[in-house]
Amino acid sequence: MTRLPRTIAIDGPAASGKSVLAERLAARLGYFYFDTGLMYRAVTNEALTRNVSIQDENAVTQIAETIEINVLPATENAGDAASRMASVPSRVPDDASRQFTVTVDGRDVSYQVRRPEVDRNVSAVSAYFGVRRAMTAQQRRIAERGCIIMTGRDIGTVVLPDAECKIFLTASVEVRARRRMADRLARGQSVTLEQMRDEILKRDAIDSSRSVAPLRPAADAIHLDNSALTIDETVTRALDILNQCAQEWA
Ligand code: DC
Repeated sequence: MTRLPRTIAIDGPAASGKSVLAERLAARLGYFYFDTGLMYRAVTNEALTRNVSIQDENAVTQIAETIEINVLPATENAGDAASRMASVPSRVPDDASRQFTVTVDGRDVSYQVRRPEVDRNVSAVSAYFGVRRAMTAQQRRIAERGCIIMTGRDIGTVVLPDAECKIFLTASVEVRARRRMADRLARGQSVTLEQMRDEILKRDAIDSSRSVAPLRPAADAIHLDNSALTIDETVTRALDILNQCAQEWA
């Protein structure tokens, strides 16, 4: 590889495998991986915790503008005991919640941000203009350090339009519903494939149709469909894409 791209944007719909791919690539390249979805989840969780109506755009925006969100690589005891008990009783947390420690105003909310109630409300919160403005500003600051892989829905289009490499990761609805079901079952929740398919279709519809920063590939993004690929195969393809970007920037 000539020179590694300094900023790598990975966008794609829910359960397309962005987290696993980004984590593997970051470990391989020695890069910092930042999952922007956790910030929208943290705002949603805070609104729910404060009993603020998710429909109250001004109140939710004010939360986004005033709370301090920190997303750090997970430590062994990420998530305080109480939050762990509240959202995942007697089960080991799923991979996604173990990757990062998320704090809001110093409180550890790593497990709460993954609870189903947050899943159901986060698309509505992330459609608010003021919420996105606040989160985008923070994400750009975080990316300034370089050597970063940032995942989300609008990284290549809005947050980092100048990212040196942009990957748009997709998988079929069927495959994504199965992955989401496996996550939920591992967390001790009983769900059906039908429910997961409905939830994913609903999230896709909200994420893609909102007026501010909708989910869509950047014009210069390279598409990667991993419906029929293993994780290792997806990583190999992504490394090929990084090589391709590196040559374009050389
Ligand atoms: O990737 P995720 O499922 O944790 O994302 C949670 C929600 O946040 C999802 O419905 C879309 C939204 N999101 C967004 O609008 N923009 C981002 N950059 C990241 C996530």
